[in-house]
Amino acid sequence: MRKREPHVFLSRRYQFSASHRLHVDALSPDENRATFGKCNNPYGHGHDYTIQLTLSGPVDPVTGMVTNLADLDAFAAREMFARFDHANLNMLECFRDLVPTTENLAAEIWRIFAEYPHATLERVRIEETSKNSFDYFGASSLSKTAVSNL
Ligand code: NI
Repeated sequence: MRKREPHVFLSRRYQFSASHRLHVDALSPDENRATFGKCNNPYGHGHDYTIQLTLSGPVDPVTGMVTNLADLDAFAAREMFARFDHANLNMLECFRDLVPTTENLAAEIWRIFAEYPHATLERVRIEETSKNSFDYFGASSLSKTAVSNL
């Protein structure tokens, strides 16, 4: 087994507001109410989601950084905020056939940041309320460090 090179985990927090309604078309109205409770309210409700991303990578010997946070922020603005901030999650293409729970939102945000070119995504944490947080670990891809060393 190859020795892992020195690397750093970095985390960055973002916040956006969005609304959703938890509802599954395949379930009856009673089953939906029994499953989702007040989250099945037909008018929906909103959350201030806190997204905490953890990424890893080697420290660039010149910049002293894993990735420039300005690059990460620009990527988040373009790929995440533009889609989710002040959106009705139920109206988005990615939730057309998928209930927009925070678990599923975390998976979608994983798919977005897995494409970030300058560091390896390790974890997506979403705080939905002060009581609930969700840690999502997507399918691991070959680390970008390993790829560049091949
Ligand atoms: Ni909710």
